[in-house]
Amino acid sequence: MVTGFGRAMLDRWLLDPDIIYLNHGTVGATPRAVLAAQTAIRDEIERQPSRFLLRELAGVGVGVPRRDSSRLRAAAAVVAGFVGARVEDLVLLDNATTGVNAVLQSLSLAEGDELLLTDHAYGSVARTAAFVAARRGARVRTVTLPFPVRRPADLVEAVAGGIGPRTRIAVIDHITSLTAVVFPVAEIAARCRARGIPVLVDGAHGPGAVALDVASLGVDWYAGNLHKWAFAPRPSGFLWAAPGRQANLHAPIVSWGFGEGFPLEFDWASTRDPSALLASPAGIAFLRELGEDAVRSHNHGLAREGATLLTREWGTRLEAPPEMFAAMITLPLPDRAGASESDAERLRDALLYEDGIEVQLHAWGGRIHARISAQVYNDLRDIDRLSRAVLARIG
Ligand SMILES: Cc1ncc(COP(=O)(O)O)c(C=O)c1O
Repeated sequence: MVTGFGRAMLDRWLLDPDIIYLNHGTVGATPRAVLAAQTAIRDEIERQPSRFLLRELAGVGVGVPRRDSSRLRAAAAVVAGFVGARVEDLVLLDNATTGVNAVLQSLSLAEGDELLLTDHAYGSVARTAAFVAARRGARVRTVTLPFPVRRPADLVEAVAGGIGPRTRIAVIDHITSLTAVVFPVAEIAARCRARGIPVLVDGAHGPGAVALDVASLGVDWYAGNLHKWAFAPRPSGFLWAAPGRQANLHAPIVSWGFGEGFPLEFDWASTRDPSALLASPAGIAFLRELGEDAVRSHNHGLAREGATLLTREWGTRLEAPPEMFAAMITLPLPDRAGASESDAERLRDALLYEDGIEVQLHAWGGRIHARISAQVYNDLRDIDRLSRAVLARIG
């Protein structure tokens, strides 16, 4: 286990040391060691491109089997171990959006059926649901969650309250993008199961940020990213499907594997660069080298300390109890910072281009909010710098 997290860790990344990077959650940041592993895979591909991409990658083809396990299956086995799944229930794909598309596009829906989402759903997920619904004459029912939220049970009740006779699926976040709240996924899933409603989890921020045991959550599908909190290169994600939910599950891009069943249909795709997916085990290895628990404890602890500092300095309040956040916290800026998305954008750009601080700012509920990501290369001084820079700009 490596100790001494904080700024001293920065040289294990290519991140510009002149920038205070408080935005790990947006697209992740890949450690140097993981990029080196990806480069080694690319070099290996280029030595014998057709052998690698046609024979070894998905393990399909005629003649003598080349390997016991294809390269994708071998990488999937490591990812499966990391997220508490069986390898046969998991496929690697570019990102959470792709996994969500696979599930929603594979649903069989009739006119008048409903897809249940919450008002915290990520934009690309909400758009996918709207697209799928419109094509089938179905509709999206968006539940407004109580916010500020006092306790996880309130989220459970709100989602359960949105279930109606035509609900065919509930799509919930594991950790939301804008509000950074960790949903009580198992509890929500239990309520949905009791009503016969399958659950798709958008786990874009889950793996690595929180300990994950997908098979025990009681959900039907889990689409996760590895390039955010599991240190994998971009793009790397996975889709887990419960054994009973695999039969009619199709890859969103139809290719050679179509009709071959799960997981081969997803593995046997058209020509692409698989190096990020194949290097995702190197990201997991990096996380394990630092110590999964140690990383989470640093990140969660820093996020909470940061929240204490920022609420004190900015005179605002968290909109959920600290225990409902993980490695990211979202909190409102003082009202005088403005209210619109363009106010948020102006301040975000000024912080980056003039103050050298990269942080996510957005408008939500009529106020500007900051979402602060805490990663092992950050310490409280970074958040203090953010606090002072914001106050200097808004007066
Ligand atoms: C909650 C949530 N869902 C989905 C996504 C989409 O991730 P990706 O673009 O990697 O598919 C994000 C990205 O930040 C997210 O925050």
